Amino acid sequence: MLQFIGHLHPLLVHLPIGFFIAAALFHLLKKRPNMEGLSLAISIMVVAGFVSALFSVITGYVLSLNDGYGEGKLGAHQNSALLTTVVSLGWIYTQFTKQSGWKYELSVWSTIAMIAITGHLGGSITHGEEYLSFGGSQYKAPARKAISDIPNASVFNQVVQPILLEKCAVCHNKSKQKGGLRLDDSAAIKKGGKSGEIIKGAGSSSELWNRIHLPLKDEDHMPPEKEPQLTAAEMSLLSWWMQSGASFTGSFKEKEAPDSILQKVKTWNTVVEKSTEDWWPKEAVKPASEVVIQDLKKAGFAVSTLAQNSAYISISAIAKDSITTADIEKLLTIKDQLVSLNLNRHALSKEQIQKIAQLNTLRKLYLEGCNLNNELVKELRPLKQLVYLNLSNNDLNSAVVSNFEKWESLRSLYFFKTKLSSSDSVALKKIMPKATIVIGDYRLPMLEGDTSEVKLPPAK
Ligand code: HEC
Repeated sequence: MLQFIGHLHPLLVHLPIGFFIAAALFHLLKKRPNMEGLSLAISIMVVAGFVSALFSVITGYVLSLNDGYGEGKLGAHQNSALLTTVVSLGWIYTQFTKQSGWKYELSVWSTIAMIAITGHLGGSITHGEEYLSFGGSQYKAPARKAISDIPNASVFNQVVQPILLEKCAVCHNKSKQKGGLRLDDSAAIKKGGKSGEIIKGAGSSSELWNRIHLPLKDEDHMPPEKEPQLTAAEMSLLSWWMQSGASFTGSFKEKEAPDSILQKVKTWNTVVEKSTEDWWPKEAVKPASEVVIQDLKKAGFAVSTLAQNSAYISISAIAKDSITTADIEKLLTIKDQLVSLNLNRHALSKEQIQKIAQLNTLRKLYLEGCNLNNELVKELRPLKQLVYLNLSNNDLNSAVVSNFEKWESLRSLYFFKTKLSSSDSVALKKIMPKATIVIGDYRLPMLEGDTSEVKLPPAK
């Protein structure tokens, strides 16, 4: 309930802005002949502005309690919001006591000035440094380096910290500290979050342990349900690290890691190796038109290059409200550069799917929860270079299997939350012996390839 109230804030804040600006406009208009009648409208607007400002302050306060925004800007925004409310009371006073002259003007324009300042400060909290990226301002984990000598690798520096950076630091970093917690630095990890230390005691009694072991559905589970989850290997590695004393120094050998753990590191490590060699094109390509890129960003797509010095790009529509056919046509104009596309959670029509199927340089395609059925999947067949395809959470069943005959490029196929069963997985494996096919258990390496950075060789 509290969360609901808090989430009303971004909606409500527009009301006082609208009411006060309308009142100020009426005030200006009223100076013209025959417009004195506007006085009543101004009174109504000013009171409505004050009441909605009060509600904005309350919902904003609630929001600040359950979401971890950085501290500095929030405090300034809160103070200026309170001041706006107080100053607007002055306007109500001058309005209802029918004042005119400088006192009245002062009350009007100080309210308008305060609302502008408050709006700006509020906007820079949400749209500032850590707002959803429209071109790369979101936190991005540094590229993980493959480990060559596992027994001598540092447990914390080479394994634990990279896992936390990849799966947790988006929300727990220097500028965004959900739950008052940073997980991007060992000193900060030792310090803990708003409920104190997170790794005190050995193993299973700590907050960190609890959060990652809670059932996925539990509100307190980390990472939150909709985010990329820890893989089975990552879970075992973090758990073992905590059980063995959560030390920030020492190698696997020094900590006497059992073979099973070394094996897990190996599994975790191969993901980097695999993703660096397999999926992106080797040839150099001309950069995509900057005009088109800007256009796509304006349309709400997140566009990022795969690596420095590379013209290949990856596009995600996660932050977009909806996808139109025109959007996909825009993507077609940069199809030579577009190698990874994420359209998760957008319902797609047949026509749109057919256009997507013309993006023939695509290597990775994320179509989770896109309202697909067996027939629509068939439309994707022209994507002959596709290496990774995520079809989770769509209405698919055994009949989809035949669509994959002779689709030789595919290496990873994901069918979480579909009606496919393990016998379908066996059938798929027969058709595509080289591919990894994942059907059940939501904890398996679902977006693994997605969260590890990829290095391209220098363009030829
Ligand atoms: C999408 C954002 C997000 C991601 C990713 C995320 N967290 Fe969180 N985390 C939160 C939020 C929001 C809170 C505060 C709300 C709460 O207490 O549940 C929180 C709170 C916590 C806390 C409690 C801090 C305290 O002192 O109360 C711990 C521990 C934690 N997260 C660990 C993790 C770990 C470990 C990961 C990665 C495996 C992770 N989080 C990934 C959003 C996230």
